[in-house]
Amino acid sequence: MLHDNYGINEKGHLTVCGADTVKLAAKYGTPLYVLDTDKVRAQCRIYKSAMEKYFPSGSMPFFASKALSYVGIYRIIASEGIGTDIVSPGELYTAAKAGFPLQNTCFHGNNKTDADIEYGVKSGVGYFVVDSTEELLALNGIAVKLGKVQKILLRLSPGIDPHTFEAVKTGRVDSKFGSPIATGAAEQIVKEALSLNGVRLCGYHCHIGSQIFEPEPFCDAAKIMIQFSFDMKNKYGYEADIINLGGGFGVSYYEEQKDPDIEGNIKEIADVINGFCKEKNIKVPVIFMEPGRSIVGAAGVTLYTVGSVKEIPGFRSYVSVDGGMPDNPRYALYSSRYTALIANKADKPCTEEYTVAGRCCESGDLIGEGMRMQKAERGDILAVLVTGAYNYSMASHYNRIPKPPIVTVSGGKDTLAVKRESYEDLTRNEL
Ligand code: LLP
Repeated sequence: MLHDNYGINEKGHLTVCGADTVKLAAKYGTPLYVLDTDKVRAQCRIYKSAMEKYFPSGSMPFFASKALSYVGIYRIIASEGIGTDIVSPGELYTAAKAGFPLQNTCFHGNNKTDADIEYGVKSGVGYFVVDSTEELLALNGIAVKLGKVQKILLRLSPGIDPHTFEAVKTGRVDSKFGSPIATGAAEQIVKEALSLNGVRLCGYHCHIGSQIFEPEPFCDAAKIMIQFSFDMKNKYGYEADIINLGGGFGVSYYEEQKDPDIEGNIKEIADVINGFCKEKNIKVPVIFMEPGRSIVGAAGVTLYTVGSVKEIPGFRSYVSVDGGMPDNPRYALYSSRYTALIANKADKPCTEEYTVAGRCCESGDLIGEGMRMQKAERGDILAVLVTGAYNYSMASHYNRIPKPPIVTVSGGKDTLAVKRESYEDLTRNEL
Protein backbone atom coordinates (compact mmCIF):
# COMPACT_ATOMS: atom_id res chain seq x y z
CA MET A 1 0.00 0.00 0.00
CA LEU A 2 1.98 2.99 -1.31
CA HIS A 3 4.43 2.80 1.63
CA ASP A 4 5.45 -0.12 3.83
CA ASN A 5 4.11 1.46 7.05
CA TYR A 6 0.49 1.44 5.81
CA GLY A 7 -1.67 -1.67 6.05
CA ILE A 8 -5.21 -3.02 6.41
CA ASN A 9 -6.18 -5.02 9.50
CA GLU A 10 -8.68 -7.84 10.00
CA LYS A 11 -11.51 -5.31 10.48
CA GLY A 12 -10.73 -3.86 7.07
CA HIS A 13 -9.39 -0.66 8.66
CA LEU A 14 -6.38 1.32 7.49
CA THR A 15 -3.41 0.93 9.82
CA VAL A 16 -0.36 3.16 10.21
CA CYS A 17 2.61 1.50 11.88
CA GLY A 18 0.18 -1.24 12.95
CA ALA A 19 -2.22 1.19 14.70
CA ASP A 20 -5.88 1.15 13.67
CA THR A 21 -6.61 4.62 12.27
CA VAL A 22 -10.35 4.30 12.93
CA LYS A 23 -9.59 3.72 16.60
CA LEU A 24 -7.18 6.67 16.63
CA ALA A 25 -9.88 8.90 15.15
CA ALA A 26 -12.35 7.76 17.82
CA LYS A 27 -9.82 8.28 20.62
CA TYR A 28 -8.41 11.68 19.62
CA GLY A 29 -11.10 13.12 17.35
CA THR A 30 -10.67 14.51 13.84
CA PRO A 31 -9.04 16.16 12.01
CA LEU A 32 -5.97 14.38 13.29
CA TYR A 33 -2.37 14.21 12.14
CA VAL A 34 -0.92 10.74 12.72
CA LEU A 35 2.86 10.41 12.58
CA ASP A 36 4.61 7.03 12.44
CA THR A 37 7.86 7.76 14.23
CA ASP A 38 9.25 4.30 13.43
CA LYS A 39 9.05 5.32 9.78
CA VAL A 40 10.71 8.66 10.54
CA ARG A 41 13.57 6.83 12.24
CA ALA A 42 13.87 4.31 9.42
CA GLN A 43 14.22 7.14 6.88
CA CYS A 44 16.84 8.91 9.04
CA ARG A 45 18.83 5.68 9.17
CA ILE A 46 18.72 5.16 5.41
CA TYR A 47 20.23 8.61 4.80
CA LYS A 48 22.71 8.40 7.68
CA SER A 49 24.08 4.99 6.84
CA ALA A 50 24.30 5.64 3.09
CA MET A 51 25.99 9.00 3.59
CA GLU A 52 28.46 7.49 6.04
CA LYS A 53 29.12 4.62 3.67
CA TYR A 54 29.67 6.55 0.46
CA PHE A 55 30.79 10.05 1.44
CA PRO A 56 33.89 11.07 3.44
CA SER A 57 33.89 10.91 7.23
CA GLY A 58 31.89 13.74 8.82
CA SER A 59 29.24 13.67 6.07
CA MET A 60 25.70 13.63 7.42
CA PRO A 61 22.05 14.43 6.83
CA PHE A 62 20.44 17.46 8.45
CA PHE A 63 16.67 16.99 8.76
CA ALA A 64 15.01 20.01 7.11
CA SER A 65 12.64 20.86 9.90
CA LYS A 66 10.62 23.26 7.73
CA ALA A 67 8.91 20.01 6.66
CA LEU A 68 7.75 19.33 10.21
CA SER A 69 8.64 21.35 13.28
CA TYR A 70 7.43 20.64 16.81
CA VAL A 71 9.40 19.88 19.96
CA GLY A 72 9.11 16.09 19.74
CA ILE A 73 10.47 15.77 16.21
CA TYR A 74 13.78 17.39 17.21
CA ARG A 75 14.13 14.83 20.02
CA ILE A 76 13.63 11.99 17.55
CA ILE A 77 16.10 13.52 15.10
CA ALA A 78 18.66 14.11 17.86
CA SER A 79 18.37 10.52 19.05
CA GLU A 80 19.05 9.32 15.50
CA GLY A 81 22.35 11.20 15.63
CA ILE A 82 21.71 13.43 12.64
CA GLY A 83 21.62 17.22 12.32
CA THR A 84 18.77 19.57 11.60
CA ASP A 85 18.24 22.47 9.23
CA ILE A 86 16.42 25.46 10.70
CA VAL A 87 15.17 28.46 8.77
CA SER A 88 13.87 30.81 11.40
CA PRO A 89 14.37 31.81 15.01
CA GLY A 90 11.10 30.01 15.73
CA GLU A 91 12.50 26.72 14.48
CA LEU A 92 15.72 27.42 16.39
CA TYR A 93 13.74 28.10 19.54
CA THR A 94 11.76 24.87 19.14
CA ALA A 95 14.93 22.83 18.53
CA ALA A 96 16.61 24.44 21.56
CA LYS A 97 13.55 23.75 23.70
CA ALA A 98 13.78 20.09 22.69
CA GLY A 99 17.40 20.02 23.85
CA PHE A 100 18.66 19.51 20.29
CA PRO A 101 22.49 19.71 20.07
CA LEU A 102 22.62 23.04 18.29
CA GLN A 103 26.16 22.49 17.05
CA ASN A 104 24.50 20.10 14.59
CA THR A 105 22.33 22.72 12.95
CA CYS A 106 22.48 24.67 9.72
CA PHE A 107 20.72 28.03 10.06
CA HIS A 108 19.11 29.10 6.77
CA GLY A 109 17.06 32.03 5.60
CA ASN A 110 17.49 34.71 2.97
CA ASN A 111 16.71 37.55 5.32
CA LYS A 112 17.91 36.95 8.84
CA THR A 113 17.48 40.06 10.97
CA ASP A 114 20.24 41.26 13.30
CA ALA A 115 18.17 39.90 16.19
CA ASP A 116 17.93 36.47 14.46
CA ILE A 117 21.69 36.48 13.86
CA GLU A 118 22.50 37.38 17.44
CA TYR A 119 20.10 34.74 18.73
CA GLY A 120 21.71 32.13 16.46
CA VAL A 121 25.29 33.00 17.39
CA LYS A 122 24.49 33.15 21.12
CA SER A 123 22.63 29.82 20.94
CA GLY A 124 25.64 28.07 19.41
CA VAL A 125 24.20 27.26 15.99
CA GLY A 126 26.66 25.00 14.13
CA TYR A 127 26.67 26.59 10.69
CA PHE A 128 25.08 29.77 9.44
CA VAL A 129 24.17 29.30 5.81
CA VAL A 130 24.91 32.85 4.72
CA ASP A 131 22.64 34.04 1.95
CA SER A 132 23.95 37.51 1.12
CA THR A 133 26.80 39.96 1.64
CA GLU A 134 24.61 42.04 3.95
CA GLU A 135 24.05 39.01 6.15
CA LEU A 136 27.75 38.13 6.04
CA LEU A 137 28.80 41.57 7.26
CA ALA A 138 26.09 41.74 9.91
CA LEU A 139 27.01 38.27 11.15
CA ASN A 140 30.69 39.12 11.26
CA GLY A 141 30.00 42.27 13.28
CA ILE A 142 27.78 40.44 15.76
CA ALA A 143 30.23 37.52 16.15
CA VAL A 144 33.14 39.92 16.76
CA LYS A 145 31.03 41.82 19.31
CA LEU A 146 30.26 38.53 21.10
CA GLY A 147 33.89 37.40 20.92
CA LYS A 148 33.02 34.39 18.77
CA VAL A 149 34.08 32.98 15.43
CA GLN A 150 30.99 31.62 13.68
CA LYS A 151 31.29 28.72 11.24
CA ILE A 152 29.56 29.48 7.96
CA LEU A 153 28.62 27.96 4.63
CA LEU A 154 27.89 30.31 1.75
CA ARG A 155 24.64 29.70 -0.07
CA LEU A 156 25.33 29.72 -3.78
CA SER A 157 23.01 29.21 -6.71
CA PRO A 158 24.50 26.80 -9.19
CA GLY A 159 21.87 27.59 -11.85
CA ILE A 160 20.35 24.11 -12.11
CA ASP A 161 16.83 23.46 -13.35
CA PRO A 162 15.85 20.10 -11.84
CA HIS A 163 12.67 19.85 -13.95
CA THR A 164 10.44 20.04 -10.95
CA PHE A 165 7.49 22.34 -10.63
CA GLU A 166 7.99 26.09 -10.58
CA ALA A 167 7.20 26.91 -6.95
CA VAL A 168 10.00 24.77 -5.53
CA LYS A 169 12.80 25.56 -7.98
CA THR A 170 15.26 27.35 -5.76
CA GLY A 171 18.71 26.81 -7.26
CA ARG A 172 18.40 28.74 -10.52
CA VAL A 173 20.19 32.01 -11.15
CA ASP A 174 16.90 33.90 -10.95
CA SER A 175 16.19 33.09 -7.32
CA LYS A 176 15.75 35.01 -4.10
CA PHE A 177 18.22 32.62 -2.48
CA GLY A 178 21.98 32.77 -2.43
CA SER A 179 24.75 34.18 -4.60
CA PRO A 180 24.77 33.03 -8.22
CA ILE A 181 28.00 31.47 -9.45
CA ALA A 182 27.30 32.55 -13.03
CA THR A 183 27.17 36.30 -12.29
CA GLY A 184 30.37 36.43 -10.24
CA ALA A 185 28.45 37.23 -7.04
CA ALA A 186 29.53 33.91 -5.51
CA GLU A 187 33.21 34.70 -6.02
CA GLN A 188 32.75 38.16 -4.50
CA ILE A 189 31.16 36.79 -1.33
CA VAL A 190 33.90 34.16 -0.97
CA LYS A 191 36.55 36.89 -1.17
CA GLU A 192 34.66 38.95 1.39
CA ALA A 193 34.16 35.99 3.76
CA LEU A 194 37.86 35.11 3.65
CA SER A 195 38.77 38.63 4.77
CA LEU A 196 36.68 38.61 7.96
CA ASN A 197 37.68 37.60 11.51
CA GLY A 198 34.28 36.85 12.99
CA VAL A 199 33.42 34.05 10.59
CA ARG A 200 35.14 30.87 9.47
CA LEU A 201 34.28 29.77 5.96
CA CYS A 202 33.74 26.00 5.98
CA GLY A 203 32.29 25.51 2.52
CA TYR A 204 29.33 26.03 0.23
CA HIS A 205 25.64 25.24 0.16
CA CYS A 206 23.14 24.92 -2.64
CA HIS A 207 19.55 23.76 -2.88
CA ILE A 208 18.26 22.92 -6.31
CA GLY A 209 14.64 22.09 -5.55
CA SER A 210 12.27 19.72 -3.84
CA GLN A 211 10.47 16.50 -4.84
CA ILE A 212 13.35 15.39 -7.10
CA PHE A 213 13.48 11.63 -7.58
CA GLU A 214 16.64 11.08 -9.62
CA PRO A 215 20.29 11.57 -8.64
CA GLU A 216 21.27 13.44 -11.84
CA PRO A 217 20.32 17.00 -10.82
CA PHE A 218 22.24 16.51 -7.55
CA CYS A 219 25.25 15.15 -9.49
CA ASP A 220 25.15 18.19 -11.79
CA ALA A 221 24.89 20.57 -8.83
CA ALA A 222 27.74 18.79 -7.02
CA LYS A 223 29.98 19.10 -10.07
CA ILE A 224 29.26 22.83 -10.41
CA MET A 225 29.97 23.36 -6.70
CA ILE A 226 33.21 21.37 -6.80
CA GLN A 227 34.33 23.16 -9.95
CA PHE A 228 33.67 26.43 -8.12
CA SER A 229 35.66 25.20 -5.11
CA PHE A 230 38.49 24.26 -7.47
CA ASP A 231 38.41 27.73 -9.06
CA MET A 232 38.45 29.44 -5.64
CA LYS A 233 41.37 27.24 -4.58
CA ASN A 234 43.33 28.36 -7.62
CA LYS A 235 42.45 32.03 -7.19
CA TYR A 236 42.44 32.50 -3.42
CA GLY A 237 43.99 29.31 -2.04
CA TYR A 238 40.75 28.39 -0.28
CA GLU A 239 39.38 24.86 -0.72
CA ALA A 240 35.93 24.00 0.69
CA ASP A 241 35.84 21.36 3.44
CA ILE A 242 32.07 20.94 3.16
CA ILE A 243 29.61 20.95 0.30
CA ASN A 244 25.97 20.97 1.38
CA LEU A 245 23.74 19.74 -1.44
CA GLY A 246 20.47 20.90 0.17
CA GLY A 247 17.21 18.97 0.30
CA GLY A 248 16.64 15.28 -0.07
CA PHE A 249 14.80 13.15 -2.59
CA GLY A 250 11.12 13.04 -3.46
CA VAL A 251 8.37 10.92 -1.95
CA SER A 252 5.70 8.91 -3.68
CA TYR A 253 2.26 10.47 -3.06
CA TYR A 254 0.33 8.13 -5.37
CA GLU A 255 0.75 4.70 -6.96
CA GLU A 256 2.14 5.86 -10.32
CA GLN A 257 4.92 7.77 -8.56
CA LYS A 258 7.79 5.43 -7.73
CA ASP A 259 9.60 6.04 -4.44
CA PRO A 260 13.30 6.75 -5.03
CA ASP A 261 16.08 4.38 -4.05
CA ILE A 262 17.74 6.71 -1.54
CA GLU A 263 20.83 4.60 -0.94
CA GLY A 264 21.28 3.94 -4.68
CA ASN A 265 20.93 7.66 -5.44
CA ILE A 266 23.49 8.58 -2.77
CA LYS A 267 25.93 6.03 -4.15
CA GLU A 268 25.50 7.46 -7.63
CA ILE A 269 26.10 11.02 -6.39
CA ALA A 270 29.19 9.83 -4.47
CA ASP A 271 30.57 8.09 -7.57
CA VAL A 272 30.22 11.28 -9.59
CA ILE A 273 31.77 13.42 -6.84
CA ASN A 274 34.69 11.05 -6.33
CA GLY A 275 35.37 10.84 -10.06
CA PHE A 276 35.17 14.58 -10.53
CA CYS A 277 37.42 15.36 -7.55
CA LYS A 278 39.98 12.88 -8.84
CA GLU A 279 39.91 14.47 -12.26
CA LYS A 280 40.43 17.93 -10.72
CA ASN A 281 42.97 16.70 -8.18
CA ILE A 282 40.97 18.23 -5.34
CA LYS A 283 40.12 16.59 -2.01
CA VAL A 284 36.68 15.00 -1.76
CA PRO A 285 34.64 17.34 0.46
CA VAL A 286 32.47 16.31 3.37
CA ILE A 287 28.91 16.18 2.06
CA PHE A 288 25.83 17.43 3.90
CA MET A 289 22.27 16.90 2.67
CA GLU A 290 19.06 18.32 4.09
CA PRO A 291 16.20 15.88 3.49
CA GLY A 292 12.83 17.00 4.81
CA ARG A 293 9.97 15.51 2.82
CA SER A 294 11.56 12.08 2.47
CA ILE A 295 12.16 11.82 6.23
CA VAL A 296 8.64 12.62 7.44
CA GLY A 297 6.36 12.57 4.37
CA ALA A 298 5.25 8.94 4.26
CA ALA A 299 5.22 8.77 8.07
CA GLY A 300 2.20 11.06 8.16
CA VAL A 301 -1.48 10.43 7.54
CA THR A 302 -4.32 12.90 8.17
CA LEU A 303 -7.67 11.60 9.35
CA TYR A 304 -10.92 13.48 8.79
CA THR A 305 -14.58 12.76 9.37
CA VAL A 306 -16.82 12.84 6.33
CA GLY A 307 -19.71 15.32 6.59
CA SER A 308 -21.72 15.77 3.43
CA VAL A 309 -21.50 13.79 0.21
CA LYS A 310 -22.96 15.76 -2.67
CA GLU A 311 -23.41 14.44 -6.17
CA ILE A 312 -23.91 16.99 -8.94
CA PRO A 313 -25.15 14.91 -11.89
CA GLY A 314 -23.13 15.54 -15.02
CA PHE A 315 -20.38 17.24 -13.02
CA ARG A 316 -18.82 15.62 -9.99
CA SER A 317 -19.30 14.37 -6.46
CA TYR A 318 -18.02 16.32 -3.49
CA VAL A 319 -17.09 14.80 -0.15
CA SER A 320 -16.72 17.43 2.55
CA VAL A 321 -14.47 16.79 5.52
CA ASP A 322 -13.94 18.53 8.85
CA GLY A 323 -10.50 19.93 7.91
CA GLY A 324 -9.10 21.31 4.66
CA MET A 325 -6.71 24.00 3.53
CA PRO A 326 -5.96 25.17 7.09
CA ASP A 327 -4.35 21.77 7.88
CA ASN A 328 -3.20 20.97 4.33
CA PRO A 329 -2.83 23.94 1.95
CA ARG A 330 -0.80 22.02 -0.63
CA TYR A 331 -3.55 21.34 -3.17
CA ALA A 332 -4.72 24.95 -3.00
CA LEU A 333 -1.13 26.20 -3.32
CA TYR A 334 0.54 23.76 -5.70
CA SER A 335 -2.21 21.41 -6.98
CA SER A 336 -0.32 18.68 -5.14
CA ARG A 337 -1.88 15.29 -5.69
CA TYR A 338 -2.60 12.94 -2.78
CA THR A 339 -4.01 9.47 -2.23
CA ALA A 340 -7.09 9.22 -0.02
CA LEU A 341 -9.23 6.35 1.19
CA ILE A 342 -12.06 5.60 3.54
CA ALA A 343 -10.17 4.24 6.53
CA ASN A 344 -13.08 2.21 7.90
CA LYS A 345 -13.67 0.59 4.48
CA ALA A 346 -10.04 0.22 3.42
CA ASP A 347 -10.58 -3.38 2.26
CA LYS A 348 -13.47 -2.41 -0.06
CA PRO A 349 -12.92 -1.60 -3.73
CA CYS A 350 -12.34 1.98 -4.81
CA THR A 351 -15.45 2.45 -6.91
CA GLU A 352 -15.93 6.22 -6.60
CA GLU A 353 -14.22 9.37 -7.73
CA TYR A 354 -14.55 12.38 -5.46
CA THR A 355 -13.48 15.94 -5.07
CA VAL A 356 -12.54 16.16 -1.40
CA ALA A 357 -13.46 19.58 -0.04
CA GLY A 358 -12.54 21.23 3.23
CA ARG A 359 -14.78 23.22 5.53
CA CYS A 360 -13.54 26.71 4.73
CA CYS A 361 -15.66 29.39 3.19
CA GLU A 362 -13.67 29.27 -0.05
CA SER A 363 -14.22 27.25 -3.25
CA GLY A 364 -10.49 26.58 -3.61
CA ASP A 365 -10.43 24.79 -0.27
CA LEU A 366 -9.86 21.33 -1.70
CA ILE A 367 -7.69 18.40 -0.64
CA GLY A 368 -7.86 16.93 -4.11
CA GLU A 369 -9.94 16.33 -7.20
CA GLY A 370 -10.62 13.09 -9.02
CA MET A 371 -9.63 11.10 -5.94
CA ARG A 372 -10.54 7.44 -6.35
CA MET A 373 -11.75 5.77 -3.17
CA GLN A 374 -14.42 3.69 -1.51
CA LYS A 375 -18.00 4.97 -1.32
CA ALA A 376 -18.17 7.69 1.32
CA GLU A 377 -20.96 8.32 3.78
CA ARG A 378 -21.42 10.80 6.61
CA GLY A 379 -19.44 9.66 9.65
CA ASP A 380 -16.81 7.72 7.69
CA ILE A 381 -13.14 8.37 8.44
CA LEU A 382 -11.36 9.70 5.38
CA ALA A 383 -7.58 9.24 5.44
CA VAL A 384 -5.18 11.26 3.31
CA LEU A 385 -1.83 9.51 2.98
CA VAL A 386 1.70 10.98 2.93
CA THR A 387 0.88 14.18 4.79
CA GLY A 388 3.84 14.13 7.18
CA ALA A 389 5.78 16.85 5.34
CA TYR A 390 4.69 20.46 4.81
CA ASN A 391 1.22 19.94 6.27
CA TYR A 392 1.41 20.66 10.01
CA SER A 393 4.29 23.05 9.35
CA MET A 394 2.25 24.99 6.77
CA ALA A 395 -1.03 24.89 8.69
CA SER A 396 -2.92 28.13 9.26
CA HIS A 397 -5.88 29.35 11.30
CA TYR A 398 -7.87 30.42 8.26
CA ASN A 399 -11.54 30.74 9.18
CA ARG A 400 -10.45 30.46 12.82
CA ILE A 401 -10.05 26.72 12.60
CA PRO A 402 -7.84 25.41 15.41
CA LYS A 403 -4.84 23.29 14.36
CA PRO A 404 -5.32 19.53 14.75
CA PRO A 405 -3.24 17.54 17.21
CA ILE A 406 -0.34 15.27 16.28
CA VAL A 407 -0.49 11.70 17.54
CA THR A 408 2.67 9.70 17.13
CA VAL A 409 2.68 5.94 16.69
CA SER A 410 5.63 3.68 17.45
CA GLY A 411 5.54 -0.09 17.69
CA GLY A 412 1.79 0.18 17.14
CA LYS A 413 1.41 2.32 20.32
CA ASP A 414 -0.08 5.81 20.11
CA THR A 415 0.97 8.90 22.08
CA LEU A 416 -0.33 12.45 21.97
CA ALA A 417 2.58 14.63 20.88
CA VAL A 418 0.88 17.96 20.14
CA LYS A 419 -2.47 18.89 21.73
CA ARG A 420 -5.45 20.00 19.69
CA GLU A 421 -5.74 23.77 19.77
CA SER A 422 -8.72 25.21 21.61
CA TYR A 423 -10.79 28.26 20.66
CA GLU A 424 -9.14 29.95 23.64
CA ASP A 425 -5.74 29.29 21.99
CA LEU A 426 -6.97 31.18 18.94
CA THR A 427 -7.63 34.36 20.93
CA ARG A 428 -4.74 34.01 23.38
CA ASN A 429 -2.78 37.05 22.16
CA GLU A 430 -5.74 39.26 21.43
CA LEU A 431 -6.17 42.22 23.77
N1 LLP B 1 17.18 22.60 2.38
C1 LLP B 1 16.77 23.77 1.87
C2 LLP B 1 17.70 24.89 1.84
C3 LLP B 1 15.47 23.90 1.39
O1 LLP B 1 15.08 25.06 0.88
C4 LLP B 1 14.57 22.80 1.45
C5 LLP B 1 13.21 22.91 0.98
C6 LLP B 1 15.04 21.60 2.01
C7 LLP B 1 16.35 21.54 2.45
C8 LLP B 1 14.19 20.37 2.14
O2 LLP B 1 13.82 19.85 0.91
P1 LLP B 1 13.04 18.44 0.82
O3 LLP B 1 13.96 17.34 1.27
O4 LLP B 1 11.87 18.51 1.76
O5 LLP B 1 12.65 18.32 -0.58
N2 LLP B 1 6.40 23.86 0.83
C9 LLP B 1 6.78 23.09 -0.34
C10 LLP B 1 8.20 22.64 -0.25
C11 LLP B 1 9.16 23.77 -0.18
C12 LLP B 1 10.54 23.28 -0.01
C13 LLP B 1 11.46 24.40 0.19
N3 LLP B 1 12.76 24.03 0.55
C14 LLP B 1 5.85 21.90 -0.47
O6 LLP B 1 4.91 21.77 0.32
O7 LLP B 1 5.99 21.10 -1.40
